[in-house]
Amino acid sequence: MSSVEIPRETWATRIGFIFAAVGSAVGLGNIWRFPFQVGQEGGAAFLVMYLLFILAVGFPAMLVEFVVGRYTERNPVGALREIGSGAWRYVGWIFIATGFVILSYYSVVAGWTIRYTVLGLQDGYLADAAEAEAQFVTLASGLDAIVLHALFMAAVILIVGAGIKRGIELAVTVMVPAIIVIVVGLAVYAATLEGAGDAYAYYLSPDLGVIAANWTSILPAAAGQAFFTLSLGMGVMITYASYLGEDRNLAEDGAIVIGFDTAIAFVTGLIVFPILFTAGVDPADPGAGAIFVSLAAAFGDLTLGWLVGAVFFGTVAIAALSSAISLMEVVVSYVVDEHAVDRRVAALAIGGGIFVLGIPSAYDLVLLDLFDLFADQILLVLGGLLLAILVGWILSDLAVEELSLGIGDLGGYGTAWIWAVRIPVVLVLIVALVLGVLDYLEFLTGPFAEWLAD
Ligand code: PFF
Repeated sequence: MSSVEIPRETWATRIGFIFAAVGSAVGLGNIWRFPFQVGQEGGAAFLVMYLLFILAVGFPAMLVEFVVGRYTERNPVGALREIGSGAWRYVGWIFIATGFVILSYYSVVAGWTIRYTVLGLQDGYLADAAEAEAQFVTLASGLDAIVLHALFMAAVILIVGAGIKRGIELAVTVMVPAIIVIVVGLAVYAATLEGAGDAYAYYLSPDLGVIAANWTSILPAAAGQAFFTLSLGMGVMITYASYLGEDRNLAEDGAIVIGFDTAIAFVTGLIVFPILFTAGVDPADPGAGAIFVSLAAAFGDLTLGWLVGAVFFGTVAIAALSSAISLMEVVVSYVVDEHAVDRRVAALAIGGGIFVLGIPSAYDLVLLDLFDLFADQILLVLGGLLLAILVGWILSDLAVEELSLGIGDLGGYGTAWIWAVRIPVVLVLIVALVLGVLDYLEFLTGPFAEWLAD
């Protein structure tokens, strides 16, 4: 393997980097996963825990990735080879694998959001929950799903192939403001719905007793969600920060990115719950496929629901695209940096490979789960954990020095940050990893074994 020095691109503007990182963070995790986790994990109580994890775990972990990226100015494989010794040198590969696998099925789900945008405009949504579910099962797997997955990956390839400034930065500068404006608009609309009052009461008044009674499931769910929604553990923030200059205040940039990501997730709750309450759907009901079944059925119930639904699903599709390009960039930056391959060729070849890997997920929902659980609960957590141990316990002096560039003397904040990485971040990720492995084994011996037997 040769490592070739070639001039690297950088972001054109500070806001370009922030938009790119926000675009990565705001995705299906905010608009699809978040509201339904709130529903499943006890409403406002989950929201409180989630906010706590964002601050105590998400923020320090994001700074770890920023620091590694900016210090090395490399893709995750090159970055870890530079800062690590011995076996640490190979940790970067976990990020490449995670990016490859996550994007393969994320693109399938993104394809569904395109399908549901068109569905609203063409036929409207089915109000009956059972019929909506049957429709989802038909649309989610098979040729339709494969074609839309291909379409979505083609868009990703085009943007990433065009480069950092002219591809990713340009795309997110349009997409991110659009997402913010539409999401706020939808929340204002949702406030006019009949069920809004009950929905706010449910969403905004935490019952701390719920946390006490269910903390064993709320804690890991909130921690996992905090990590996923901030695009951590995937090498994305390492890669995006590698295109940054030294004069930037990484702590400030991180706080801005986290603020936007959290605000969008929060506001999505202000959209989804009023709609569900108005249609009389219990927010604790929906599981996987949630927005495509219960929310779609709720749109079927509302006046002009087809239009509101199409706007909603279209926005989710845009948010998914601005996230997907960041994962693709993780893999592309590796090939471009380390093997001096032309970026467009790299984007096409890698995008093609990711498309092929995603075909099983577009073919059967059980296979999608197989990839999702493995990447999301094991690979992602493992990569994040190893990086936190390396930076927090082995390279802390270097990390604090790098963080101070563009800020000045960190004083006690530097120490506080390192200790946050050493204990809370590492502990939470160890617990998440153990639970993730157990969950995966349960899936392999349960639903997956049944699927194989059929
Ligand atoms: N932060 C993203 C989200 O919340 O959807 C996580 C992510 C998933 C980023 C998949 C990129 C991606 F392709």
